[in-house]
Amino acid sequence: MSVHVIADSRDKLSTLRLLLPPRLDASFALLGETIDIPLLPDSLVVAVDIRVVDQIAALKRMMLKLGGARNRIFLIDGRSHLLSAQAYALGATRVLHNPVSARQLAGQLVDQVVLSASSGSAVRDATLSASIGASAIASMFSAVGGGTPVEKAAVEDAANRIAETVIDHGLTNWLTTVRRHHEGTFQHCLLVTGVAVDFGQTLGVSAVDIRRLSVAAMFHDIGKASIPLAVLDKPGKLDTDERALIETHPQSGYDVLKQTSGVAPEVLRAVRQHHEFLDGSGYPDGLSGQSIPDLVRLLTISDIFAALIEDRRYKPCMPRDQAYDILLQMRGKLEAPLVSAFRQVAFGQ
Ligand SMILES: [Fe+2]
Ligand SMILES: [Fe+2]
Repeated sequence: MSVHVIADSRDKLSTLRLLLPPRLDASFALLGETIDIPLLPDSLVVAVDIRVVDQIAALKRMMLKLGGARNRIFLIDGRSHLLSAQAYALGATRVLHNPVSARQLAGQLVDQVVLSASSGSAVRDATLSASIGASAIASMFSAVGGGTPVEKAAVEDAANRIAETVIDHGLTNWLTTVRRHHEGTFQHCLLVTGVAVDFGQTLGVSAVDIRRLSVAAMFHDIGKASIPLAVLDKPGKLDTDERALIETHPQSGYDVLKQTSGVAPEVLRAVRQHHEFLDGSGYPDGLSGQSIPDLVRLLTISDIFAALIEDRRYKPCMPRDQAYDILLQMRGKLEAPLVSAFRQVAFGQ
């Protein structure tokens, strides 16, 4: 397998030379250097500070030649949604945050080999849908952070694509792919979307409602765009102030989306109400019983389950059966017949 590395300093090139797995056909270039390789590489690794305007221009020129590489891994400094969005806009298919370990990098590159060798389309399709989905989520978060309009159409297209992938190739394939390639908020939103689609299918809801559910799932945590990543990604317990800050996200997400034209009222409601519980113990409005619509009830169950089975750096990912047990323990908060129906989703039957 061939890999080409572009970096904006010799130090970075040397570090990456050491981090790359042995026995790769690797070539290296400094940003702006002429590229002298006979064939398009399988993978491209970009370690360029894209906060520097001049560097973006130089990188764009290099991407004209190398952008056709199937696997384009961008290593970025700082954990900001804006930078991730920028990396995807420049052509990344994966975004990793520095400092990157040899294991992480090897994992992404080896996946590429598996992907190339895979005769089935399931893994390839899920990888592409996850990448398009992550890119849409990154753009949406950076738009909210920067006070610019949310590109609703891009999020809806990505949601449809994910729904098709899950319907065609199953939820397990989706969960494995997303957990392998994406982290944090992107991983969470992608997992919730896949789980919600599978749940909707299991229940036999209409195609229109599956579509609404998938769009609602993509948007559901948009209010987290204004919460610092240090709080969102904090390992361990949140303090009272941090918890209060997190609990503002359904309302602030609703406020942002309300200003985006063409968002269905059901989707708006789902964004605002996805942390409400049937017994009135949820937030932000303490709604109970019948005032929580069906679509929201499906999304809430999918959201909790997806959060439990997430693959996070600081906690091992919980097996699906254990996550389902936790849903069962939430009696009174979630609709019991829906939780029973969710068994099929949880156990992948
Ligand atoms: Fe949420
Ligand atoms: Fe969520």
